[in-house]
Amino acid sequence: MTTAENLSEKVRDFIASPRKMLINGKWTDAASGKTFETLDPSTGESIVQVAEGDREDVNRAVAAARTAFEDSPWSRMAPSAREKIMHRLADLMEENADVLAELEALDNGKNVAVARAVDVQLAIDYMRYMAGWPTKIGGDILPMSVPYAPDAKFMGYTLKEPVGVVGQIIPWNFPALMASWKLSPALASGCTVVLKPAEETPLTALYIGELICQAGFPEGVVNIIPGYGHTAGAALTEHEDVDKIAFTGSTTVGKIIVKAAADTMKNVSMELGGKSPAIILPDADLDIAIPGAASAIFFNMGQVCCAGSRLFVPDNLYDKVIDGLANEANNMKIGPGLNPENMINPLVSQIQFDRVMSYIDSGRGEGAEVIAGGGRSGDTGYFVEPTVLAKTTRDMKVVQEEIFGPVVCVQRYGDVSEIPALANDTVYGLGASIWTRDVGNIINIVPKIKSGSVWVNCHSILDAVMPFGGYKQSGYGKDMGKEALDSYLETKAVCIMA
Ligand code: NAI
Ligand code: MG
Repeated sequence: MTTAENLSEKVRDFIASPRKMLINGKWTDAASGKTFETLDPSTGESIVQVAEGDREDVNRAVAAARTAFEDSPWSRMAPSAREKIMHRLADLMEENADVLAELEALDNGKNVAVARAVDVQLAIDYMRYMAGWPTKIGGDILPMSVPYAPDAKFMGYTLKEPVGVVGQIIPWNFPALMASWKLSPALASGCTVVLKPAEETPLTALYIGELICQAGFPEGVVNIIPGYGHTAGAALTEHEDVDKIAFTGSTTVGKIIVKAAADTMKNVSMELGGKSPAIILPDADLDIAIPGAASAIFFNMGQVCCAGSRLFVPDNLYDKVIDGLANEANNMKIGPGLNPENMINPLVSQIQFDRVMSYIDSGRGEGAEVIAGGGRSGDTGYFVEPTVLAKTTRDMKVVQEEIFGPVVCVQRYGDVSEIPALANDTVYGLGASIWTRDVGNIINIVPKIKSGSVWVNCHSILDAVMPFGGYKQSGYGKDMGKEALDSYLETKAVCIMA
């Protein structure tokens, strides 16, 4: 059991006994009887045991999702009725927002107030946004010509239909938000789902599962199978009766999944890693740009796929920015996320801690200068100091690879004309920010950056209406916004001859 004592009653109840998986509307043990433990990253201690899903559980869940898709009213329900149930879920999430935030802070390690204001609120907002879509999904009437049948009359139209049974595999950095990003458009489109949360952070998805049961979804519409990637995750991606896989996680695993999905020609959408540039232009307002660049990388301890992990600074501002950034880093309070004053919380796991520390060592070894941080904080939990690496160059491992920790690599440049090439010097293309007061710079530079999002004078701002997804090896398909729906819909062309 965790040592965290000041937990709310609801959270204490939730972690008082082993958590089960959700199959066909019922909470069940794994077929194997196995469980795994989820840990509190601020102490490394166990929070609770969780049912460990594997192939057999995935088979049962997919069968339930298939039956629900073919036989339950969900995909054929009046769109307004589907909206009502989704709104009820959003309301239940709102009523339980504090519980979700606390569970998130416990399981992932992050700041509880941030979890409430950002993760959980965005998760609710997005469920609500998508709850408005079922009544607005429609096809087109097509003006047909059919040149080889000039005497006949045709009417053509398109129908938008749900893709079917969807497997969704999500990571641990924003567990509740990722669950909402995936579930909301799938449900709005009429799909049924098997969701596999990350093994590091299963709790908020399972709590949302409880709320799904209360909201009135037909049985089997949402199934939740906690478990590991190489077992439960792989079983889902290989399953013949899954029509689509939606994945957020590492580019390495994304490639494995795309290959596995090819055998059954599944529809796939991939939201993968990043190495996003934050670019300070010579005319930037540094009062905004310096704290902005700091939060671009240190928010969520840099465990953000679109984190501003490569910072580009012009020669004339270099010293000032480096000093300002070091100051920001040194003033961030480090400690467990359940205390809302602590802005730097633990990384999610020992594995991530070791990975990030080894990148910092690699940067040092390759000649980067450590301007702030660079070490572990405390001797329990997975705390890494916010770290600024200066004098970094394009060929360094820390500049090319995703670190996924609170580590920013600063590079200097001479002229604005160098920016597009510098920004695009990566296999990734998820996000980018430019910091400038000159609208001409914005108009010139934005189209030259190869990434799915570009922020101006801000970074990593997300909203339900804004599509989010990658170019290049950051993946394909969009989460959020209206675009997310497209990847859960098939288009059927219907032709009627009069
Ligand atoms: P990961 O890609 O292994 O895990 C993400 C999800 O994929 C988890 O639910 C996991 O169980 C599942 N998974 C793993 N292997 C699988 C397989 N063979 N088949 C099906 N599902 C599988 O990421 P991990 O190991 O947790 O983190 C490693 C690195 O990945 C991080 O350091 C970071 O660079 C990147 N990452 C990127 C994220 C993003 O938001 N784009 C989120 C998490 C990690
Ligand atoms: Mg955990």
